Amino acid sequence: MFGLPVRVFMVKVSYEQKPFRRSMMQTWGAEVFASPTNLTNAGRAALAADPDNQGSLGLAISEAVEEAAADPGTCYTLGSVLNHVLLHQSVIGLEAKKQFDKIGLYPDVIFGPCGGGSSFGGIAFPFLADKAAGDKRAANLRCVAVEPTSCPTLTKGHYAYDYGDVSGYTPIMKMYTLGHDFMPPGIHAGGLRYHGDSPLVSQLLHEGQVEALAVPQVATFEAGVQFARAEGIIPAPESCHAIRAAIDEALKCKVTGEAKTILFSLTGHGHFDMASYDKFFSGQLEDYDYPAEAIAESLKHLPKVG
Ligand SMILES: Cc1ncc(COP(=O)(O)O)c(C=O)c1O
Repeated sequence: MFGLPVRVFMVKVSYEQKPFRRSMMQTWGAEVFASPTNLTNAGRAALAADPDNQGSLGLAISEAVEEAAADPGTCYTLGSVLNHVLLHQSVIGLEAKKQFDKIGLYPDVIFGPCGGGSSFGGIAFPFLADKAAGDKRAANLRCVAVEPTSCPTLTKGHYAYDYGDVSGYTPIMKMYTLGHDFMPPGIHAGGLRYHGDSPLVSQLLHEGQVEALAVPQVATFEAGVQFARAEGIIPAPESCHAIRAAIDEALKCKVTGEAKTILFSLTGHGHFDMASYDKFFSGQLEDYDYPAEAIAESLKHLPKVG
């Protein structure tokens, strides 16, 4: 598109689970590879250690950065985590605020799925800015980042300097991390399989300004199906995490009798994730145990700072 040749290193598990996302990219002219590949040192090292490596966002980033760094004519672009991406995504929260103004309401609680943190930051930050400015409507506002129990970066990770990729090619960032070489289980919410998190979201969590919650895979699909049957929109598996949390919050309100305005971020449709929904319907979708040992091992490899 736009005359720009593009090479995409797509995490292998997503390449296989979401084949039509790959087809779309190919339709627009991109070359798409299942990462890890044999094209880069990072990919070859991962495959030598484990020929069945399913890939991770951190490994795909290593492959892409390695390729870009080797050629002055090639640029690498990251779609989450970094401050400028969250700034761009804040259009979500700004629009939501306008919509709330129109109906004369203000949220009590905001839920967003959280992978690298860009859509969560995008929806939450404009409201958190109100809170910081002393807006009374936001005095008790809660913003909750929702992540998978199988990749519990914010709820079980360390707040430390770490690399954004497996091979350590990126600059280190202070963030919640499970260790840059942590390989999350192959859940269907591929966009939430990231070992780290946005430094901005991480700092706000560290300071107690936002909260985090982890939910298991099957319960997220149950929520997605309930939402689809009520609203006619089939949500992406990533979005189902926020929907699960929003439904649970509403159910709690039913019990306590409290009236709350709940905002959640529907980050994408699930039209290319129907194979995942099929697995859910046929009972093949599983919950993964908290991968405590793998995380403990990866955390040993955090860069030494200071
Ligand atoms: C539909 C969807 N929602 C959410 C995310 C999570 O990313 P982020 O935390 O950067 O918003 C992704 C990532 O790929 C995604 O595809």
